Amino acid sequence: MDKFLIEGGKPLEGRVAASGAKNAALPAMAAALLTEDPVILRNVPRVRDIGTLRSLLDELGVDSSVTHEEHGNRLEIQARKLLNPVAPYELVKQMRASVLVLGPLVARFGHVRVSLPGGCAIGARPINLHLKGLEALGATIKIEHGYVDARSDGLRGATLYFDAITVTGTENLMMAATLASGETLLQNAAREPEVEDLADLLKAMGATIDGAGTDTIRIRGVTRMHGAEHTIVPDRIEVGTFLVAAAITGGHLIVEQAEPAHLTAVIAKLAEAGVKVRTQAPRALEAESSGKLCAADMTTHEYPGFATDMQAQYMALMTQAEGSAVITEAIFENRYLHAPELLRMGADITVNGRRAVVRGKTPLSGAKVQASDLRASASLVLAGLAAEGETLIDRVYHIDRGYERIEEKLNKVGARIRRISD
Ligand code: EPU
Repeated sequence: MDKFLIEGGKPLEGRVAASGAKNAALPAMAAALLTEDPVILRNVPRVRDIGTLRSLLDELGVDSSVTHEEHGNRLEIQARKLLNPVAPYELVKQMRASVLVLGPLVARFGHVRVSLPGGCAIGARPINLHLKGLEALGATIKIEHGYVDARSDGLRGATLYFDAITVTGTENLMMAATLASGETLLQNAAREPEVEDLADLLKAMGATIDGAGTDTIRIRGVTRMHGAEHTIVPDRIEVGTFLVAAAITGGHLIVEQAEPAHLTAVIAKLAEAGVKVRTQAPRALEAESSGKLCAADMTTHEYPGFATDMQAQYMALMTQAEGSAVITEAIFENRYLHAPELLRMGADITVNGRRAVVRGKTPLSGAKVQASDLRASASLVLAGLAAEGETLIDRVYHIDRGYERIEEKLNKVGARIRRISD
């Protein structure tokens, strides 16, 4: 298992480019299962989760090939047929987003067995709403031996109301509905840019979809979807992480290949904390900080609110702000695993259920810490950059799941991070 050794205390300066969004690339790969034609995806990030989904495609008997391009990978997927309709536990437990194959496969082939993902470090994360939605479209769902067995002899459009807003649930149902007869209405749908990006791909594949990016999505089913080419949207969470990297080190970064419109809530919160954030060219964001930060309370929210995937990074930043910041995690019930690690570095944080109070500014000092999940690892990297001395982060495979070689990107703008491989 790789580790990161970070020598902190240096302001970051320069230009860094974001990769394509992992959370847009994963559903796009699943969408390729809706057609026998090739689907070509560009700007696919070179991260571990993409490899895990490719292994799953392989297991299903679906071809995929990858080519290196200037911006990310080009991934070609062709699902001529389904040789094995099973998404096994061994792969699904590594990555919950594997459940994204459920909707497309039951819609196109009429049968699929997908392992239930089980709990996860940040919360229980059930998939009941995905299953309820598929049943409403006419699928028969059985849970047997830890697997979801979904069958259908043709899905039918329906009006679905999501009891809670779910990103991959919306994506799963939107994909299934493209091959259902008649019209499907998804109400209380997720509005995340990744949902909109998926809708753009589905439209290019022949679907009729209106309203993606709002809470009501209308899909008119077609009998056949065809191949398409699509470029994945920039990773707004990676962009946000770089903005915080500039802020926490008292540095100045220009983040290229970004979509500023997707970061409105993060930019507003950073401005409140005293960070200067400006939109540069249409696809770049600039963040500058003198190192003087003030505490600002923050509550996570579904898009367009402040993303839960930026909460851990924001907590690291608040350790360096003057005053007390109250952070409320409204999406996941257990997403503060980074807090005890930040405490080991000198932070003053009290967690009480979904609420955390960060009292700053406390100097951080390098320590041995452990990454527990993807975004928690990012917050430890940020804390390590701001800390005096050396920080050793264990289990950085978590960060490799969703950040493309973060140490190389940050080292180019002045960070000192060494990857230590076992
Ligand atoms: N929920 C249910 N039932 C469901 C589905 C969700 O109760 O059937 C609950 C969840 O337990 C959670 C809330 O609804 O409390 C929101 O979960 P959601 O379904 O939106 O999360 P997700 O689709 O599993 C995606 C991202 C996550 C991100 C969340 C929230 C992907 C592949 N994953 O997960 O990304 O945190 O939305 O924005 O898109 C990450 O990249 O680090 C990551 C965890």
